Amino acid sequence: MSHDEEISNRSENRPFEDILRQYVERRTVLKGGLATAVASMSGFSGLAFADDDDDDDDDEGVGRRRRSRLMNFEPVKVADGNGAVPVISEDYEYQVLIPWGDPIVPSGPAYSYPPSAEDQKYQIGIGHDGMTYFPMSRRGDDDDDDEDGRRRGSNRHGMLAINHEFGRNSTILDRGVARNGADNQPLSLEDVRASQHAHGVSVVEIKKIRGKWQTVESQRARRIHVNTPVTFSGPVAGNPLLQTPAGNAPLGTVNNCSNGHTPWGTYLTCEENFNGYFGANDPSWAPTPEQDRYGFSAGGFGYGWQTFDDRFDLSNASYMNEENRFGWVVEIDPMNPDQTPVKRTAMGRFKHEGVALAVGRGKRVVAYMGDDQRFDYIYKFVSAGNWKRMRRQGKSPLDEGTLYVARFDADGTGEWLELSMNNPALAFFGSDANILTYARLAADTVGATPMDRPEWTTVAPDGSVYCTLTNNSLRTVADAANPLAPNADGHIVRWKDSKRFTGTTFEWDIFILAKDTHSTEESFSDPDGLYADPDGRLFIQTDGGQKDGLNNQLVIADTKTKEIRRLFTGVTGDEITGVTMTPDRRTLFINTQHPGNGDPALTNFPAPTDGATRPRDCTFVIRRKNGGIIGS
Ligand code: FEO
Ligand code: CA
Ligand code: CA
Ligand code: CA
Repeated sequence: MSHDEEISNRSENRPFEDILRQYVERRTVLKGGLATAVASMSGFSGLAFADDDDDDDDDEGVGRRRRSRLMNFEPVKVADGNGAVPVISEDYEYQVLIPWGDPIVPSGPAYSYPPSAEDQKYQIGIGHDGMTYFPMSRRGDDDDDDEDGRRRGSNRHGMLAINHEFGRNSTILDRGVARNGADNQPLSLEDVRASQHAHGVSVVEIKKIRGKWQTVESQRARRIHVNTPVTFSGPVAGNPLLQTPAGNAPLGTVNNCSNGHTPWGTYLTCEENFNGYFGANDPSWAPTPEQDRYGFSAGGFGYGWQTFDDRFDLSNASYMNEENRFGWVVEIDPMNPDQTPVKRTAMGRFKHEGVALAVGRGKRVVAYMGDDQRFDYIYKFVSAGNWKRMRRQGKSPLDEGTLYVARFDADGTGEWLELSMNNPALAFFGSDANILTYARLAADTVGATPMDRPEWTTVAPDGSVYCTLTNNSLRTVADAANPLAPNADGHIVRWKDSKRFTGTTFEWDIFILAKDTHSTEESFSDPDGLYADPDGRLFIQTDGGQKDGLNNQLVIADTKTKEIRRLFTGVTGDEITGVTMTPDRRTLFINTQHPGNGDPALTNFPAPTDGATRPRDCTFVIRRKNGGIIGS
């Protein structure tokens, strides 16, 4: 039930036969034992935690892997994780927090179904996805020891910023009346506003009180939704591409999928399938080539907002360019409710899945970003200078810098291709603003590698970057970085950039093919959410059909041994997504998104099972029963 199932890249940018041939030759060499592993061939030095020997380290298969010393919990069995309620390792426990529709502060409007548009403005949105915990009392700004921006501070009290990716009309608007048959079209502006207010971001203040996490009254809590004032910065700000004939002020963020956070303590939310909320009331409307490349269509994903809200009508000339205002990375200050969310245009416009930041050479910030569509690309942004100096000068490190797109070569190397007017191949775009607004078209032009739906990225402590490629049922020609055609179950690629994140070359390998886990208890498919912890664990969350009726899940991999253990399974029809921790890594937050796909016949979670109560997206707060590090 994904919004990501379309294909928008019809460019001729396709990998070549010889790349595939080289890849096959390389695999043959590896299997012949001439190289120890794909990892060593790609120059990985191994992670900086306690290592043992190299007796039977097996990067090619699953069956002979060493037992990890990082993970000692009892895994959830495949046979157990398939019902209407979540299942967690017997060594762990969870509680539910902030279900869709709860007030963002205890004194706010209580949950009732279906939500009114007015109440929903002050209630937790739907479609829980990426999120970050920002501990109270310490912030990263100008703290030399804290380039994560939130490493220190309270483990019991913080701000939680959380994305609300989407909720369908059939889930949000079901008021017991006929809604144009199966289409669930809105019947009024009130319907549209209820839907719009359920999308966006929540920022809530949470605290552990007598052993239980809860929201508290807060001056900082806020909702950011589709009608919240926003602003633009960076090279496209002020450009006619972001202005409409109607002159309406920029409002809102939508389809907020994954996330990131900055060293200076702010939250980054990513606009993914923004195209689907636009439609055309005039049947004669046809997309421009640019609109087509971004997937705009007359019907969109069926939300029908354009029927009552002209802003989302692609055929309304007064709102020309409104669609260019979506598809960006948006910066939110979780501590300042008066801050206007800022769309950082230097990071490009595409279907941003998420963003993972690292601090590289010269203290430049480097951001890794996937564009989740079949045959779309992986990007990175490198700030122009030292992030602290830029901020002291009153500049945002996310406003000035260089955007690149990745090309993966068959020999295990790759190149970051610059997307700016400095690249002669892009001269015909005429301006950096055009290149950034139509980054997908620029990436097509320079020959980026079309990937199998890039989802989350994460930066591991050894400097390798991991990216989930969730699946691609339409791939017919394999290449080195996307070696399965079709790719039903996805894989995870990793790379290490030259010059400590800032260089334009990299070495890469495939960390794991999901299908290689399918004959084992460690089985997973469709990797999506991803987090590399400081010890060498990789948290992998899934979104798609798992083997043997298993629900979507959180598994943890040891990046050294590649052993996998299953920590948690969700409920029927959901996906598991969103991952953040307290600074001491003894409290984990994850989400169930679209439990039961909204159908009370499948699950009623988090309510007790009664066959009738509407299931609700919610957060799980997870701890190890013995108080240990999460994942241990
Ligand atoms: Fe919103 Fe690509 O997942
Ligand atoms: Ca999703
Ligand atoms: Ca996702
Ligand atoms: Ca997904």
